Amino acid sequence: MATIITIASQKGGVGKTTTALNLGYSLSRKGKKILIVDGDPQGGFTAACNLKKKTAKGLLHILNGTVQGADAIQPLYHGMLAALGSGVINAEDIALYESAAAGEQLAAVLRDLAAGYDYLLIDAPVGVGIIVKALLSASDLYLIVINCKAGTMKTLPRLMKTGEWVKKNVNPSLEFLGVLVNMYDAGNPSEEKIYTYFKASLSRKFFFDSVIPLDNQLETASFRSVPVAMVKEGAEVAAAFDRFADELLGRTNDTAETVEPVDSGGGDGEKLEDDLYTNLLKELCEKSDYYGAVLADEMGFPLADYNCPINTDALAAFTSVLGDSLEKAESILEQEDPNNLTLEINESDKVALRRFNALNSTYFLLVICPQAAVFPGLVELTISEIIAKLTE
Ligand SMILES: Nc1ncnc2c1ncn2[C@@H]1O[C@H](COP(=O)(O)OP(=O)(O)OP(=O)(O)O)[C@@H](O)[C@H]1O
Ligand SMILES: [Mg+2]
Repeated sequence: MATIITIASQKGGVGKTTTALNLGYSLSRKGKKILIVDGDPQGGFTAACNLKKKTAKGLLHILNGTVQGADAIQPLYHGMLAALGSGVINAEDIALYESAAAGEQLAAVLRDLAAGYDYLLIDAPVGVGIIVKALLSASDLYLIVINCKAGTMKTLPRLMKTGEWVKKNVNPSLEFLGVLVNMYDAGNPSEEKIYTYFKASLSRKFFFDSVIPLDNQLETASFRSVPVAMVKEGAEVAAAFDRFADELLGRTNDTAETVEPVDSGGGDGEKLEDDLYTNLLKELCEKSDYYGAVLADEMGFPLADYNCPINTDALAAFTSVLGDSLEKAESILEQEDPNNLTLEINESDKVALRRFNALNSTYFLLVICPQAAVFPGLVELTISEIIAKLTE
């Protein structure tokens, strides 16, 4: 039975959803089996990892009895991490969700879902309302995410009081795990002052020692709907989430199976994976006499590239346009499953795009090659190696 942890905050936009995704990813890389549940009817987490593209079914459908839990849960990135979206789409859904929260149904469903995982992380909606109370009623632990602004620090007691109320009246086993400072801007004197002041005036374990810095790579990751460890320049802030995950395991008296070493040289496990995909692309190009190749996700964002002649923004636009063309070809040409497209780009060269699926997501492999190149060649082999790596 999983330990259920609600990730809450009384202020909006401080990084609850970001923490749920990146903490969940980090814990899963440390050998823990993780389910992340979007407990926010606004669907923050659902959007954060593009769950709607994979399934519109979510917690709401389990609550109204139209699906079983297992049918709405989606694997994410690799076998140790899974996610459940909110399933909330319109105002009626929100009303249903809130009434399930007011009764005991929401808490009961969450406890059922916890079976088979080490940790169930809940991305809570902002505030101290009825849904947050219900999520806390179902939880073993809760943690609070804040930024280092005076207004956020001063309103912290409101959420703490809600936690205490739930513990006293509904769920005596609920424990407070700690406060995570996110978006910390170390160069900003007022943030430093506020952090030092509150840290000194509260009990030693009130704040986690780990702090997540303000880092634009989290925006890039959020835009691409992936954990920051999957972004090329994201190693530093990903390492901060790894340290936080270790500290959290320490506080829950748990240990990581494989604590990955933090490479201060700027690389980490994911960076190595990036390199691994790049190497697969490099090998494909060298053996097949292609000029360059790109691996992109379903939004067209490049995950890895080798010898690509254009910058990544242009590439993202390019692959998503090509991806759309494949969708259109499917309906216009009435072709079944048109997974390949080639486009001549000048007198001698062409671009070939191959669409494939792994882990319920679509990916694109794009190669730039002479017009005379014959397909599939080694492309299929490379794709099967990429799928093996993605589903590992
Ligand atoms: N440490 C950080 N550095 C830079 N940007 C960050 C950081 N953490 C989060 N962000 C960005 O801040 C925005 C808000 O984050 P997020 O959605 O996680 O907050 P939230 O608390 O879940 O918001 P809400 O209250 O609306 O649910 C996102 O665009 C996210 O990418
Ligand atoms: Mg959120």
